[in-house]
Amino acid sequence: MNILIVGSGGREHAIAQAVKKSSKADKIYCAPGNGGIAGIAECVDIGAMEFDKLAEFAEQNRIDLTIIGMDDPLVGGIVDVFEKKGLRVFGPRKNAAIIEGSKAFSKDLMKKYGIPTAAYENFDNPEEALKYLETAAMPIVVKASGLALGKGVLICQTLEEARDAVKSLMLDKQFGDAGNEIVIEEFLTGREVSVLCYCDGTHIKPMTSAQDHKRAKDGDLGLNTGGMGTFSPSPFYDAEVQRFCEEKVYQPTMDAMKKEGRDFTGILFVGLILTADGPKVLEYNARFGDPEAQVVLPRMKNDIIEVMEACIDGKLDTIDLQFEDNAAVCVVLASDGYPEHYEKGKEIHGLETFEGKDDYFVFHAGTKLADGKILTNGGRVLGVTALGATLKEARANAYKATEWITFDNKYMRHDIGKALDDLY
Ligand code: AMP
Ligand code: GLY
Repeated sequence: MNILIVGSGGREHAIAQAVKKSSKADKIYCAPGNGGIAGIAECVDIGAMEFDKLAEFAEQNRIDLTIIGMDDPLVGGIVDVFEKKGLRVFGPRKNAAIIEGSKAFSKDLMKKYGIPTAAYENFDNPEEALKYLETAAMPIVVKASGLALGKGVLICQTLEEARDAVKSLMLDKQFGDAGNEIVIEEFLTGREVSVLCYCDGTHIKPMTSAQDHKRAKDGDLGLNTGGMGTFSPSPFYDAEVQRFCEEKVYQPTMDAMKKEGRDFTGILFVGLILTADGPKVLEYNARFGDPEAQVVLPRMKNDIIEVMEACIDGKLDTIDLQFEDNAAVCVVLASDGYPEHYEKGKEIHGLETFEGKDDYFVFHAGTKLADGKILTNGGRVLGVTALGATLKEARANAYKATEWITFDNKYMRHDIGKALDDLY
């Protein structure tokens, strides 16, 4: 089969790697791709939001399956454009991707169908939001409803901070139209777990769990980022938590979307927080997590194309989803200064050390190929993933592998998965 992957991050590199392992894959393309993906797929210079050009490319190159990695094109309706042309595509349609595109929608959905989540109110009027804050308990969480690169969530300790958050989202438009509507919700505490699930509109199959580290600095300090590292599985997501989520969260979400006439096909990413009152949903995403995909996909035993085709055909119930009984840790190598100001264009050395090592992966995020050299080209540059028999071993392997790579201004967290040390 000819496969087209849409996106350009570490997540798309991990998807491309999984597709390459499939016995069904012949030619692999990625649009627009990056310097590392170019090693396993032909990169095509079409942007992820150029739906008509992408569909035309798929028709002309006899693409049998297009996989959408990123949120923006999904929320913008790329799947509908492909389906209208009779092209096979993996991902939710626009009317289902809204589960990520509008936090106000997803909160109302959870409330209507009794899916556990933080108490909240939605506002499209700044005066009303400010008035509501007067009597609200602190700390409180203020969220832009729309897409904001994972940065539109503000945790406010005081009324003053909460007022500033409402003003910056709704009046100063810090995240543009994403802040036209906001969600103000109860602050929850607990361990966070990400569970990515395959969905076929009716059936839902959760993959192995993962945990992200969103803050820029060690000790969960600094600004929120797209994610500085992940580990999988999460020891906090035990059999009891899993059973609860299957009964109260995953299938109820699928059923709710179906009842609303928004059948969900593709990847449903459920961001959970394990509170003293039980697991609650923090957010839904309509695609693989980045860097969650970089620890989950290397552990998946199934042929990814077979699973994705089963999702498209409504036959996910025929798939026995299986993961290796091991662990994976991914450490993101970033440009110093990310997520604010950083320099680009630094030459990256040591990538060849990963060649021929089955338990080590280097996924490219912000890189580019120029004159035969791989250069830094973004905030998150590479994701270094290693497998191990246990999380502790995987973590030691991943940190060893980060030393194989050098570039000017290389920055990483040194405590990815460190909280786990208490458990061993
Ligand atoms: P979200 O994009 O909604 O998952 O939010 C991003 C991050 O903000 C989450 O991973 C949490 O760390 C934090 N967060 C979001 N909502 C809450 C909440 N209600 N209580 C505490 N932390 C939250
Ligand atoms: N790592 C979080 C996300 O992909 O949204």
